[in-house]
Amino acid sequence: MLLLSSNSITSTFLLFIFFFNFSSVFSTYTETCSGIVPFRQRGDTVSITDFGGIGDGKTLNTKAFREAIYRIRHLKRRGGTLLYVPPGVYLTESFNVTSHMTLYLAAGAVIKATQRYSNWPLIAPLPSYGRGRELPGGRYISFIHGDGVRDVIITGENGTIDGQGDVWWNMWRQRTLQFTRPNLVEFINSENIIISNVIFKNSPFWNIHPVYCSNVVVRYVTILAPRDSPNTDGIDPDSSSNVCIEDSYISTGDDLVAVKSGWDEYGISYGRPSYGITIRRLTGSSPFAGIAIGSETSGGVENILAEHINLFNMGVGIHIKTNIGRGGFIKNITVSNVYIENARQGIKIAGDVGDHPDENFDPNALPVVKGITVKNVWGVKVLQAGLIHGLRDSPFTEICFYDINFHGVTGPRSPPWKCSDVFGFSHQVSPWPCSQLSSQQPGSCTNYS
Ligand SMILES: *[C@@H]1O[C@H](CO)[C@@H](O)[C@H](O)[C@H]1NC(C)=O
Ligand SMILES: *[C@@H]1O[C@H](CO)[C@@H](O)[C@H](O)[C@H]1NC(C)=O
Ligand SMILES: *[C@@H]1O[C@H](CO)[C@@H](O)[C@H](O)[C@H]1NC(C)=O
Repeated sequence: MLLLSSNSITSTFLLFIFFFNFSSVFSTYTETCSGIVPFRQRGDTVSITDFGGIGDGKTLNTKAFREAIYRIRHLKRRGGTLLYVPPGVYLTESFNVTSHMTLYLAAGAVIKATQRYSNWPLIAPLPSYGRGRELPGGRYISFIHGDGVRDVIITGENGTIDGQGDVWWNMWRQRTLQFTRPNLVEFINSENIIISNVIFKNSPFWNIHPVYCSNVVVRYVTILAPRDSPNTDGIDPDSSSNVCIEDSYISTGDDLVAVKSGWDEYGISYGRPSYGITIRRLTGSSPFAGIAIGSETSGGVENILAEHINLFNMGVGIHIKTNIGRGGFIKNITVSNVYIENARQGIKIAGDVGDHPDENFDPNALPVVKGITVKNVWGVKVLQAGLIHGLRDSPFTEICFYDINFHGVTGPRSPPWKCSDVFGFSHQVSPWPCSQLSSQQPGSCTNYS
């Protein structure tokens, strides 16, 4: 709470604590979705030092990590194995995790990615993207990678996974990248994954990327990257279902959480939606969005709940973004109990965001955006309340706004709300919203509330 410098902000903050934490004063039960993946204690433990690991920050530990995980995979101990990483700085190249393992970082343990990227392995593009997200062709494997695994836990006493991303950010800035940058942690086609009590630092690209996964819990994580680091999204559930993100702090150079499901014609033909995702008690800061859906949503995104979200020094608070050629749908999204302090825009829902993988996208593939509920939002120093731009041939419908207050809307020469090709309903929204947001009967909004 270092951000609170003046008394007026402090009192607003106290008001907000009162406003949002009132119920918790009277109940000791904290709502959680984390029960979707049981937290397993492992019967068997090995330490990275048993495999020659040296935490001096200089020795390359690739062999130690790969051998330890090879042993876990092949010995198949009942109940799985915990790989203990003691305090120290363990420099390593990328490695793959295996099923039924816990990667445990002790307090003061750092797993640090090498900055020698010349032989960083490449893997195939995701079928739902057709190519690397940044550049055509394959992509660099994530620093920590899991493909087709189940029952994997990454946890500990808030040790750090450090991507040392600046060499990658500089290649991006200088346009010398050859392929799409590595994610820090990626799980593909995996299930029953828990990531908790870990600090993620300086990811080369997106931080945590579960793709084609189900039953994923991310809790009590801290994700940090400089504000000017390119594309360092916090958590991007992608074509994944039953994902629970809770009690985390994220401050990076891009969207804090962005729910995705594939890119244009590749995402449409792969056809795998993201659904059943809860984002709860998240705090953070970013020049881009706090809670984002998109822009890659070609497989569809539905049944998303984000609540108790605190955002400071933001580009956009809540950003739903898609494009012509995306196809897919964005349906039944609820965002509630949001505090936003200092943002360019409170809410943005737009059909003209993001680029295309190639020229073969279908201009007739229009996304459907329907059933977006935003309620109980309190914003201070928000320059523009909202920008809602639907598509002429696919207007956004059932856009429902309740109990939204944006203060300090100064809107340089522009109205606080700008809307087009949108139908919705609003109640107790201040500043007063555009007429399109009162164009529907309230009944059309209760289906999704
Ligand atoms: C890690 O997994 C990827 C994708 O499954 C695979 O291509 C690669 O060979 C694996 N690397 C190692 C060192 O086993
Ligand atoms: C680790 O960090 C989480 C989230 O910030 C915090 O709730 C927890 O108490 C910390 N745990 C330890 C062992 O320091
Ligand atoms: C909408 O999504 C919520 C989760 O946010 C889910 O509980 C609810 O059943 C969904 N409603 C419909 C009509 O699918």
